[in-house]
Amino acid sequence: MRFHVLTLFPEMVMDGLNTSIIGRAIQNGKIELEAVNIRDFATNKHMKVDDYPYGGGAGMVMQAEPVYLAYQSVAEQISSPRVIYLTPQGSVFNQRMAEDLSKEEDLIFLCGHYEGIDERVLEMIVTDHVSIGDYVLTGGELPAMVMIDTISRLVDGVLHNDDSAKYESFAENRLEYPQYTRPEEFMGRKVPEVLLSGNHAKIAEWREEESLKRTRERRPDLL
Ligand code: ADE
Repeated sequence: MRFHVLTLFPEMVMDGLNTSIIGRAIQNGKIELEAVNIRDFATNKHMKVDDYPYGGGAGMVMQAEPVYLAYQSVAEQISSPRVIYLTPQGSVFNQRMAEDLSKEEDLIFLCGHYEGIDERVLEMIVTDHVSIGDYVLTGGELPAMVMIDTISRLVDGVLHNDDSAKYESFAENRLEYPQYTRPEEFMGRKVPEVLLSGNHAKIAEWREEESLKRTRERRPDLL
């Protein structure tokens, strides 16, 4: 899987994803990540990429041309690329979308800033408008990083224990059961007896019940 991020802040994306499991997946070649600086495609001598909105109003709008040229520099190596524009006006990202997107060879993420991007270039290149939730961030970089992290862990070989991507929150629309590790007692609180029993059928049954109970309490909308 190759991720291409069109952004005004390439170091934010590269630094943010280059640690822990995703960092290791990049080192091992399980995923590839490149951040393309939209500013490198400005065609004026001040390398300006934004301007005032037609019709007036607050803030600045990112211009179509540098965005288009940055897109073209990446897209010319890919046949019919999926281009995801991060915007609070998109469909809300979830695990099902992550699974769908994890099947692509290449994904292009377009990160906006200021008051957004000239609509004409969005019409020309964007295939998916995606939001990470009903709140407004200062730019698309954090949402792109959230999506890349979520999608990457579904790519073969990124997680070392093959099972861990299957039995977890949102698999089958349930939240995951609670987990415990040593010691057996912490500040008077004991690990549930059944987990120490060695009875795998009983443990599976207990986890199933806990998972349902937790979903009912915290996310009844999933049921
Ligand atoms: N850009 C600003 N806010 C956003 C959000 N909630 N999701 C995706 N992109 C955004």
